[in-house]
Amino acid sequence: MPGSETGDAGQDEVHLGGRSVIGGSADFSLAFGPFHRGIRPMPFNKLGLYSSIVRAVAAKGYGEPTPIQEQAIPVVLTGRDLIASAQTGTGKTAAFALPILNRLGGHKLPAPRVLVLEPTRELAAQVDEAFREFSQFTGLRTALIHGGVGYGAQRNALHKGSDIVIATVGRLMDFLHERALRLDQLECLVLDEVDRMLDMGFINDVKKIVSLCPKQRQTLFFSATVPPEIEAVARFALHDPVRIAIGRARPVNESVTHAIYPVSPGLKFQLLLALLAKTDFHSVLIFTRTKHGADRIAHRLKEARHSVAVLHGNRSQAQRTAALAGFKEGKYEVMVATDIAARGIDVAGVSHVINYDIPMTPDDYVHRIGRTGRAAAIGDAFTLVTPAEASEVRQIERFIKASIPQLKLEGFDYRATPPPSRAGEGDRSELSHPLHANDRNHPHPSRRRA
Ligand SMILES: Nc1ncnc2c1ncn2[C@@H]1O[C@H](COP(=O)(O)OP(=O)(O)O)[C@@H](O)[C@H]1O
Ligand SMILES: [Mg+2]
Repeated sequence: MPGSETGDAGQDEVHLGGRSVIGGSADFSLAFGPFHRGIRPMPFNKLGLYSSIVRAVAAKGYGEPTPIQEQAIPVVLTGRDLIASAQTGTGKTAAFALPILNRLGGHKLPAPRVLVLEPTRELAAQVDEAFREFSQFTGLRTALIHGGVGYGAQRNALHKGSDIVIATVGRLMDFLHERALRLDQLECLVLDEVDRMLDMGFINDVKKIVSLCPKQRQTLFFSATVPPEIEAVARFALHDPVRIAIGRARPVNESVTHAIYPVSPGLKFQLLLALLAKTDFHSVLIFTRTKHGADRIAHRLKEARHSVAVLHGNRSQAQRTAALAGFKEGKYEVMVATDIAARGIDVAGVSHVINYDIPMTPDDYVHRIGRTGRAAAIGDAFTLVTPAEASEVRQIERFIKASIPQLKLEGFDYRATPPPSRAGEGDRSELSHPLHANDRNHPHPSRRRA
């Protein structure tokens, strides 16, 4: 199959009906695979992986490969470059990690042979953990490099010698500058979920990193969405790549049911509380557009006696780690986050995603709701929408190629007088990623509440 465009494998008809227009199906295989009834997916040991790796996969509890794994693993094993897209939560990490580990063989000094670039610290930590689990029966070593923590332990890990480095760009550049790390032995470079990084202007750093890698290498790009910027990257970083796109027709996971809740701006928080009270949820991820917005909503939810974690870029690394760990362990039932949490983070059992603020772009919508319904679990995604945001809704619907049902919460008093407004409520001037930092359409300055 190398060299061929594998095309659109995910176009199965979705059963409509149920609670919403998309995602009403209870057929898990739709969400997790395009396999038709009667066609048995291949088990992992048929994909050409060594038994040490297949054993680790079994230890992780995976039965059979997901479609992206089934298609990408053989291609990566051949050593070819690859641009692969598949819905979020469909197992892209293993799709590159397993064949990469296979190609590495045993531990080797002195310099790393694989570099995986990740857009956020949390994602880097998650992918590092996956690599360590998948390589547990090999002698391979990984090093995790990201900002927000001290340099010492990371410098030591690099010094000791790692086969695989998983890194965010900023800290990696620091270590490259101080020559704590060389890339001249690199055999494989992975750009994982970095599409947003590319439009955030990291493209120059990525170029710099690529220029330090040997010309003879394998380069892999994995993401839920293939942004136009990738064509520029393909020109300088990839050589004659194979392209795999799973489920291109529908970038969103079919095991998620979507709903829009129209509401006036002044009643948003009341509606959120009412939704939480009425919904039978296991754990909920709430997205806001701004860091201060996240703090405010979290504070008010705490006042309403919810157990709440907060995750955004202004918090210290220790706070971010504690928030995510507590949310994963179930210590907090709610996590309020900016789009920093929207990329690839895998928390088992997120039953609901609530977009308190409508996402900036349809792409962000896809990434945010990808936090629920992962690995074929069922999840729900609610979006609160004010009348002024109708055109954003249409853009999202166009992007996901489905209409999202608009619902009213029964028993909620939509005509209630909004409570006295709080400073900065609903403002959008401080955006959670720099891409839109110069958006001046929303002039209200936000103030941190005392
Ligand atoms: N073949 C598989 N069988 C069962 N679970 C899997 C399989 N592949 C991946 N998973 C699980 O699915 C979840 C999402 O995987 P991840 O690689 O983070 O997805 P993506 O990168 O596509 O968003 C993880 O919890 C992962 O362990
Ligand atoms: Mg991923």
